[in-house]
Amino acid sequence: MRLDKFLANMGIGSRTEVKTFLKKGKVTVNDKIEKSPKKDINEAIDKIYFEGELVEYIDKIYLMLNKPKGYVSATVDDQHPTVIDLIKDYNHINIFPVGRLDKDTEGLLLITNDGDFNHQLMNPSKHVPKTYEVISKNSITKNDIDSFKKGIELHDGLTKPALLEVVDDECKSFVTIHEGRYHQVKRMFHAINNEVLALKRVKIGDLELDAHLESGDYRQLTLNDFKLLGIK
Ligand code: URA
Repeated sequence: MRLDKFLANMGIGSRTEVKTFLKKGKVTVNDKIEKSPKKDINEAIDKIYFEGELVEYIDKIYLMLNKPKGYVSATVDDQHPTVIDLIKDYNHINIFPVGRLDKDTEGLLLITNDGDFNHQLMNPSKHVPKTYEVISKNSITKNDIDSFKKGIELHDGLTKPALLEVVDDECKSFVTIHEGRYHQVKRMFHAINNEVLALKRVKIGDLELDAHLESGDYRQLTLNDFKLLGIK
């Protein structure tokens, strides 16, 4: 990789800023001042310092975020804060949310810079289940559970069978869906004459939201998390 590209990718500055830093002799490669932006480096082996500090090479990044309400699942937005604004490290390496949660939905959201990872989890043909905790206006009936099991007719077609489970309180349920259509859970509840009052994603595949993560906090995925997601 070219030295200027590496430094820009690692968040040192724009390609133009990086060229100026290089000209001023602020960068060393394996202990020698390097001024050429075109210098070919091996980012995994070479030791690159900027202003005396090691520039660590980060390739792919995978994070679990406990999304708070009020944040949009996008990288930029004119009006509202985005989930990427919550990630104080790594945002120089073009991270983005894996799928979307509505602005008023909270809970488990994965963040990455790896397009393949996103595809493996979000492609409808992969059928990765996603589980939501729902607080609804009305209580859930046995009929509702059966309707979800058959699939719900929405304006964009019949949904795949969904699992609806009631917890102790009849207005609190867990729903597991296998697609990710726009406002899907809210629309499914609307179709059974109910209304979602609060929505929280608690699980993707077998990976549960880490109970130690406060709202707005994030951590890196572990190897075990990848297993739970069914991804190697
Ligand atoms: N279904 C919804 O209606 N909203 C979400 O944020 C996620 C699933």
